[in-house]
Amino acid sequence: MSLPTAAVIVVAAGSGSRLGETTQKAFVEVAGRTMLERALDEVLSVSPAPDIVVVVPEDRIDDARRMVDGTHALVVAGGNTRQRSVANGLAALGVNVATVLIHDAARALTPASLIEFVIAEVERTGHGIVPGLPVVNTVKRVDADGAVIEELDRAELREVQTPQGFPREVFAAAHAAATREFTDDAAVFASAGHRVWVIPGDPLAFKITTRFDLRRAEQLAISRGGSIRIGLGVDVHAFDDARTLWLGGVEWPGEPGLAGHSDGDAVCHAMCDAMLSAAGLGDMGSRYGTQDPRFADASGSVFIAETLSTVSASGFRVVNIAVQVVANRPKVGSRRAELEATLSALVGAPVSVGATTTDGLGFTGRGEGITAIATCQLAAS
Ligand code: CTP
Ligand code: MG
Repeated sequence: MSLPTAAVIVVAAGSGSRLGETTQKAFVEVAGRTMLERALDEVLSVSPAPDIVVVVPEDRIDDARRMVDGTHALVVAGGNTRQRSVANGLAALGVNVATVLIHDAARALTPASLIEFVIAEVERTGHGIVPGLPVVNTVKRVDADGAVIEELDRAELREVQTPQGFPREVFAAAHAAATREFTDDAAVFASAGHRVWVIPGDPLAFKITTRFDLRRAEQLAISRGGSIRIGLGVDVHAFDDARTLWLGGVEWPGEPGLAGHSDGDAVCHAMCDAMLSAAGLGDMGSRYGTQDPRFADASGSVFIAETLSTVSASGFRVVNIAVQVVANRPKVGSRRAELEATLSALVGAPVSVGATTTDGLGFTGRGEGITAIATCQLAAS
């Protein structure tokens, strides 16, 4: 018989109607990682390791299984209300689970320390435990027209978060006996006459509900992973009429090509230099020497793939890249969407592309070549 243990049920089966994305909310990315991945990063680092059940929409089961591949987490399908999703999670728990926590994937940045605190308090007290924060604003009760009925004493109020933790048997019985939908798990537990305590929550455990919350979460996720790093890259190539033009990872039939040891794709090269510069890893010239036969005639996408693996091996991921072409030709505008889609797919992060001429001035103005300038934002991965 194995020892009693704790389990965390991560509910991620909602649609996220208030967020207004077509993707189900838990599968929306927050700075490069989905909410569910971010929530699971923390749950998986809880010590000692609890059992984990992830509840997702039926059509996301395969995606979620891939996400937790190599871990001990189970994946089950949710229901059409949060309470039903919780019920499906409860049904998947192992017999030795003594303490169960219910956690919203939408509280994607909740730190492992808060999860550990809730488990410890349930085990210590045998009560329901929910994290909560003091209410900072004045709260008024109003009627349907907005007329104030009364002021509430905010000192008595708490905004509660998840994970919410309970003794498993008692919670499962309360849940099975519930005759209506409650707004949180603690209310289900309390409806069966059991005590619930609020412990200090964590501002990072806020629920991502609206677009504003998503923006706030992105900023926090980026800054928590270490400060943002900015990089800059510039590349210049002369035109060579004998070659085909490759620029931004796409071919430009009928346009003069660019001279160089590689295919001369100044856009891709500037992007690589920007990535290396942001990571503090030098530049293309110092990493991919013009003598290196691996890069003779190499396409821009080869350099991007090589640079991405170097950058990610040093613990960074690309947040976004902006690149600008300075040249008379080709006219980038008509193919901007295609360029951005191609480059974003190569990099795995948003790449925006702009272009300008120099009013006839300098070598680009005389039509002798192309300059590309890129900036890159990296965050610790
Ligand atoms: N949830 C769930 N099953 C449902 C509804 C919600 O597992 N049928 C989960 C959500 O995925 C989320 C958590 O419960 O992690 C909190 O719910 P909420 O933030 O309200 O998410 P949604 O219901 O998806 O969003 P909305 O209410 O805006 O539609
Ligand atoms: Mg909801």
